[in-house]
Amino acid sequence: MDFTRKLSFVVFILCVLISLKKKQADINRRGCVASDSPPPLQAPPSHRKLQQNDGGENVLPEGIRYDYYNESCPSAEQIIRSTVQELYEFRPDVAPALLRLAFHDCFVKGCDASILLDPTNSTASEKEAFPNQSLRGFDVIDIIKSEVEEACPGVVSCADIVVLAARESVLVAGGPFYPLLTGRKDNKEGSLDEANRLPSPQDHLYETLHKFQPKGFTERETITLLGAHSVGTIHCSFFNERLFNFKGSNAPDPSIDAEFLGVLRSKCNSSHSRSASQSASAYYSPYYSSSPSLSPSPSPTENSSSQNPGMKMDYEGPRKDFGTLYYRSLLQRKGLLFVDQQLTSMAEAQVWVQAYASDLSLFKRDFGLAMMKLSNLHLLNASVGEVRLNCRKVN
Ligand code: HEM
Repeated sequence: MDFTRKLSFVVFILCVLISLKKKQADINRRGCVASDSPPPLQAPPSHRKLQQNDGGENVLPEGIRYDYYNESCPSAEQIIRSTVQELYEFRPDVAPALLRLAFHDCFVKGCDASILLDPTNSTASEKEAFPNQSLRGFDVIDIIKSEVEEACPGVVSCADIVVLAARESVLVAGGPFYPLLTGRKDNKEGSLDEANRLPSPQDHLYETLHKFQPKGFTERETITLLGAHSVGTIHCSFFNERLFNFKGSNAPDPSIDAEFLGVLRSKCNSSHSRSASQSASAYYSPYYSSSPSLSPSPSPTENSSSQNPGMKMDYEGPRKDFGTLYYRSLLQRKGLLFVDQQLTSMAEAQVWVQAYASDLSLFKRDFGLAMMKLSNLHLLNASVGEVRLNCRKVN
């Protein structure tokens, strides 16, 4: 009996040792795989818990929740959806305009519709900031707001309209659907200074990551968000310097594919786009914030292609592989902006570029999560903000 007990004990110890060894081998194996392929997905922290209160506790700002308008304006999200869909049918450029608008709103003081405020005699507007000069879609937001106001006067904030319209834009452009919290309030002021510090198309990758990191975005999420450059148009003024006189070298950016360089040069080599590049270089310049303010371009159609030609990002055709085309073109050295092509400049970033270039569903999942995080940046609650009646001015 004693001998049997001793034997079972020895067998038990052996089993424990064997299973520990196997576990270690599993960990090692997973470690190897992780460096070759993307790590498993995790919901970004901002989905699980939103902002920190004074005690460092994570809490949702008061009043922010899913289906906030369920009772006060049940048709709100449907109105926004159908208006974006209808406009997109005859003006597909509406979708990229609204998506970019949401990025420029949320990145400056949070998603608070501060980007929509017009300048007044006493206050400057974020619209006047250099990175915002080429924004479009303000008139589309006006249209959506008037539809929503007709159904439920004074209820739905402009800040919610901006992020919900961007979500619908992603969807009509072939991207993923993602759920959004609602109940944001509109800010009573914007920040011209902060808007002038938006990321620049001339930034190196480390600068881009450095600008996204304080907003809570990981390297992976930053790379994902840039996938928004799958849709819309980049005007020559933003990449002309790369074609002719890269960093004052009188030669093109060596990171551009030679054949593609020819295509871009034939598209952009006009006196118009050459001179337009001067205003774009002011955008890139560290001194641009001290430059005189220019009037904003409020309409999606206003960036006239004859004055400043551009290249469509989905030049292979719309709704094709939202996301993957962008990353594939980066791997082929066909990125339009310097900031885009920079994603292939570091091995760690290139892992994600490769993953997204080949896995559409991975990109869509990641993009949806990153857009949720972007749309949740610094939400205002009722005690600080308001619901504007006209998105262009405070009540
Ligand atoms: C490093 C960050 C970024 C930089 C420097 C940047 C810069 C630019 C520039 C220069 C343009 C061209 C504008 C024009 O030609 O009129 C553009 C277009 C666009 N950007 Fe970005 N962007 C960045 C990130 C993002 C993000 C995170 C989003 C959305 C989530 C976004 C969405 C768009 C869209 C949709 C367009 C096309 C707009 C249109 O066709 O009207 N961008 N971006």
